[in-house]
Parts: sequence; C-alpha cells; structure tokens
Amino acid sequence: TDYPKEFPADFLWGGATAANQIEGAWNVDGKGLTTAEVVSKATNKKKMSMDDVDQESLNLALNTSLVDNYPKRRGIDFYHHYAEDIELFAEMGFKVFRFSIAWARIFPNGDDRFPNEDGLKFYDHILDELEKYQIKPLITLSHYEMPIALTQKYNGWTDRRVIDMFTRYTETVFTRYGKRVEYWLTFNEINTATWGFHATGALDQDLSSKEQLQLRYQAIHHQLVASALATKQLHELCPNAKMGCMLARMQTYPATPNPIDVQATQIADQKNLFFSDVQARGEYPEFMNRYFAEQKIKIMMDPDDQQILAQYPVDFVSFSYYMTTVTQSNQDGTAVGNMATGGRNPYLEESDWGWQIDPIGLRITLNEMWDRYQKPLFVVENGLGALDKLEDGKVHDNYRIDYLRQHIQQMKEAIKDGVNLLGYTMWGPIDLISFSTSEMSKRYGFIYVAQDDQGNGSLQRTRKDSFYWYQKVIKSNGEDL
Ligand code: BG6
Repeated sequence: TDYPKEFPADFLWGGATAANQIEGAWNVDGKGLTTAEVVSKATNKKKMSMDDVDQESLNLALNTSLVDNYPKRRGIDFYHHYAEDIELFAEMGFKVFRFSIAWARIFPNGDDRFPNEDGLKFYDHILDELEKYQIKPLITLSHYEMPIALTQKYNGWTDRRVIDMFTRYTETVFTRYGKRVEYWLTFNEINTATWGFHATGALDQDLSSKEQLQLRYQAIHHQLVASALATKQLHELCPNAKMGCMLARMQTYPATPNPIDVQATQIADQKNLFFSDVQARGEYPEFMNRYFAEQKIKIMMDPDDQQILAQYPVDFVSFSYYMTTVTQSNQDGTAVGNMATGGRNPYLEESDWGWQIDPIGLRITLNEMWDRYQKPLFVVENGLGALDKLEDGKVHDNYRIDYLRQHIQQMKEAIKDGVNLLGYTMWGPIDLISFSTSEMSKRYGFIYVAQDDQGNGSLQRTRKDSFYWYQKVIKSNGEDL
C-alpha cells in the first residue's frame, strides 16, 4: 500500500513571533504596561531572568520609563515596521504568520469595562497586510504576558477572577477578528507556568517549594479552564475557526537502560504532557491526580470545571521544539534533569546558548504526539538562536540553514510515518528580543535587525543567506532543502 511521501500541498510554512518580543511601542495608543515589560535583561547569556520578579524589582520597574534595562519595551519596533516586515515574509512565500495579541493593548488594565479601540486597530492593520499577501494568521492569545495591573491586584493567574477577564478579552478579539482568522492558540508553552512569573503573572514570594508548586498548579488550573472556555466561545462565535493548545514539548531520554531511569523518564514525560492531555483529552490524567495527592497539592475546582474541560477540548495540538533532555533517577525514583537545565546528552551538539540540538528527536516527538492525541499537529516554534555577523550587508548563516534543514527533513520523515501535520512556523523569522535573556544578540531570524543589546542601531532590516534558502524551501514545498 501507499503512504505519503511529501509535504501536503496545503502545508502551512511560515514563522512565529510574540508581541512582547517584537512590537515595542510599550506606552503608546492607550496600551497598559505588561508583565513582560518589567523583566530586566539577564546578567549573562546562560542565565534566564524571566522569573526573577518580586515586589521589590517590580517597584523598581514601575518607577522608570527608561527602556534600557527592559528590552521588551522596545522590541524591534514592529509596531511601526509591520508593513515592511510582512512584505519581507511575503517575499519568502510565507503561507502563515504566527503572532500574539498583547492583551494590554486591548484591555490596558485587564479588568477594564471597555476595550481600547486604538489597540484593536493595530491588529486590524496587521490582518489587512497579511490578507494582501494571502498569508494566514495564527494568533496566540496569551504569549508570556498580561497587563501588569493583574499582577498588582490579583497576583496574576493564582486568582480565579482572572478567568473572567481573560474570556472578556477573548470574546472581544474573536468578535472583532474571528471571521478573518482560522487558527488560534490559547496559552503559549502553558507547561512553563510551573516555572513562575513569566507565565502566571504571580510574583516571587518567600514560599517553600511545596507552597510554590501548589500556587503554580492552581494558576495553571485557572488557565486550563480559561482555555476551554475560550475554545467554547470561538466555536460559538466563529464556527470555521480552530483552537489549538501549545506546549513546550521536551522529549526526554533515559540516561541508561536501567528501569529506574526509564521509569523516571516516563514520569518526567507525563508531567510535561499533562497540559496537552487536559487540553486535548479533556480531563486530568490519573498519573497527575496521584502526583498531586503524593505532593499534598490540592487543586481548588468549581463544581463544573471538570465538565467544562471535558466539553471543550482543542481542535489541534501545537508545540515548540528546540531540544531534548536526558533524565536520570534519584534513588527515590524521582527524576532529575527534565528541563532546559537537565542532563546532557553526549551524542548531541549544542547551540551558542547551550541548547542541545536533536533533529531526530523531532520525528520521535511528532510520532508520539500523534499516537497520543490523534489530532492534527502543528510545529509552531523551532529554530536556532545564534551570534550572527553582519558584514558588507550580508549574513552568512549556514549554521542556521543546517539546523533548519535537518529538522525539516525529520518532519518529512514523520509525515511519511503517517503523522498529520498542519504546518511549521519556525521561531523568530526576524531577529527579536530573546524571551529568556532579553538579549538582542541571540538571533533566530532570516532577517537581520540592526540593533544591539543596549538598543543602539538603525533597526534596518537585512536579508540573511537563510532568507533565500527558506524562500526556496517554501517554493518547492519542502523538496529543495
Ligand atoms: C519559546 C518561547 O520558549 O522559545 C519564545 O515561546 C522564545 O517566546 C523561544 O523566544 C526561544 O527562547 P529564547 O529564550 O531563546 O528567546
């Protein structure tokens, strides 16, 4: 019998961004300050700074209008360059562009009664530009930011009332843009909300690690319910649109064939997949119920929460894929090293920022996700953050081409394996501010942006070698790599 040997004709090739990493224009046209804009830049490139926010650092951030230390306030000024940037995406042949809406442009304080018309207009303009080139939008509703007022008044997602504010925001944007947008995502990399501030908007406090986990899983529960309610709204308001969940998928391998390592690996994987399990299958999996009971974590639920989760699962499953990790068991069977900082794999090379590169892992991941959910998949982030050099108006980024080529080859293998894959939006088609370190010099783009870590530069856009390569990839529908 036959099997698919190529990318489907309607495969969605494109790129992915987030409002807080590109837009800038942080205090214009009625926009409120966001959680991403109070995170100061990291002190060194291997240190992630996005969760070091407590009351004191927040006060400091609130008292300054200087953007120097808060690079997400300036982004790459996409707010004023969007037409030019989308034209460049069109030149590469993009079929889809993933971006996020900054909640605080629409509801500056989160709990405002009426939306901010100027904020809504900005995204009208983006959709106009995309339509001009027949590029489909893929919109993330919440990508690592929320109005800072929600942190101040409610300690972010730890407070159940934030669900209502979120669904007021989603209803507003579905009503406004719903007819023009087929693909939506609720929460970016929802699983990273276990890490802290950047995804929950909850300030660091002096808590034991148990109390902290309790707080974070409670915040996550609220996000899961909000995500199901947004899915319900979308289906009611825009019957042709599709909602996806978004997971930072981190496939992890056992450090040895010792069953205790294999089992610790399975547990680490289950904890990663828990989020998409709830969003795609509509219920808390038993392994998490056991984990919560053992950890003495008690999730407070309203009586109909479980029904809401069950009734409104997502239509497709999306994830970011950057790396895999290695897991080893502690003597007590718990895992060590299942996150970005986890165990090293001696068979893999790493990026300038220490992220291990594993193209085959993408094929493994795609197969496992397809087996598990039997829902269409979408790779909505994958890419290489590197130190690029602009010389004589050129950037020779063969290392980026190699990275992307290898991952695309493995995606194709997965399609041959029978995986239903909707598309691929590589991360950061244009250089942008790093999420984890707020550096500009961690570049992902096909398009170089003239700006340094201090914010100096003309912001001029320049096509890198990879720009022409990706153009060719899209034109040949993934055949000419
Ligand atoms: C993902 C995020 O974690 O990885 C993006 O969804 C982020 O927002 C991307 O930019 C790459 O991470 P970083 O830290 O290199 O920007």
